[in-house]
Amino acid sequence: MSFEEMWAALLPIGRDDATGGYDRFAWTPPELECRAWFLDEARRRDLEVEHDANGNMFAWWYPDGVPREGAVLTGSHLDSVPGGGAFDGPLGIVSAFAAVDLMRERGVTPRRPIGIGAFAEEEGARFGVACLGSRLLAGAIDPARARGLTDADGHTFAEVLHNAGIDPDGIGPDADLLRRVGCYVELHVEQGRALTEPVGVASAIVPHGRWRFAFAGEGNHAGTTGLPDRRDPMLPFAAMVIAAREAAERNGTVATVGKVRVVPGGVNAIASSVTGWLDARGPADDAVRRTVAEVDEAARVAARPHRVSVELAEESYSEVVDFDHGLRDRMVETLGGAPVLPTGAGHDAGILSARVPSAMLFVRNPTGVSHAPAESAEPADCLAGVDALAAVLNDLAQG
Ligand code: GLV
Ligand code: MN
Ligand code: MN
Ligand code: MN
Repeated sequence: MSFEEMWAALLPIGRDDATGGYDRFAWTPPELECRAWFLDEARRRDLEVEHDANGNMFAWWYPDGVPREGAVLTGSHLDSVPGGGAFDGPLGIVSAFAAVDLMRERGVTPRRPIGIGAFAEEEGARFGVACLGSRLLAGAIDPARARGLTDADGHTFAEVLHNAGIDPDGIGPDADLLRRVGCYVELHVEQGRALTEPVGVASAIVPHGRWRFAFAGEGNHAGTTGLPDRRDPMLPFAAMVIAAREAAERNGTVATVGKVRVVPGGVNAIASSVTGWLDARGPADDAVRRTVAEVDEAARVAARPHRVSVELAEESYSEVVDFDHGLRDRMVETLGGAPVLPTGAGHDAGILSARVPSAMLFVRNPTGVSHAPAESAEPADCLAGVDALAAVLNDLAQG
């Protein structure tokens, strides 16, 4: 299967033909179809499939047929945000299979094993915590907390794992797997307009996190409840959305409220509760922390006169990731020079970098749009990405 054939096979899975957006949430039918595709591609190439205890999948190329330490791991994720683009995640995995094909066509025999990883729930679109699979693997989240995470229908992560045939009590850090990985290189579509050449190398991921604001008031009738009698949580929620924008402007950060849950959600009913999720990112920890503190303060001030309560919970936080300089410099050299750029997007490579030297390759995105249907990459740039990944894997797997 060529790059184009693999891409064409994945393209219809989980797509809403009306919008062109993808819904591939962890362990839902479209994501399971992507997983089945991954396993087929692995078997087609005689790669050894490994399912870890955390719902992540790996396809290993053992050149001499023997698992060894020091493997060069590549890959990405197959899940998507709601209504996401085609490239975020799958590009890294399709490119990895294509890079292995290219190396084999060229008669390369790597000295180190090469692995292709598909990490679970990278977007956190179902259970709320981004990079859940790699966090569990790397010991960056308490397994008990992970087991209790719930999706929008109230299913726990533990239940969903159990139904997928994974023992929820077995999740957690996997020192044995990590010991076998010498380094991790993730290829990803660039998610802004910063990359103007076909392929670039990542320098850093900025600090970022997710916070949940829960506003509780009193449900009541929209027609019969006078204004003084209302405890409407929608009002401080609205103030919080505006406050997020203003706090971001003051602190040089970005802040987004992209998800809200209104209960009960009737046109003719004052809401009893509103939950809003804040995503905040910025160049430094203190700027991000200040942004969130200012939004929290504004929400509380706005809630008081309406007799609405506010609860703030941090769902996840990732400190700045400065990718391994040696690996990054070596990749730039292998590529004969490449732009080096930071990103505001989170990745499994960021989580794994705490445990193994990690790096990323970016493929240019002409629209600069991501997490939306207009996310894009030109076919020629995708092939340049495959070429670059093959060169990098080839170099790293010889050392
Ligand atoms: C994941 O892609 C994120 O950066 O939110
Ligand atoms: Mn993403
Ligand atoms: Mn991604
Ligand atoms: Mn991501």
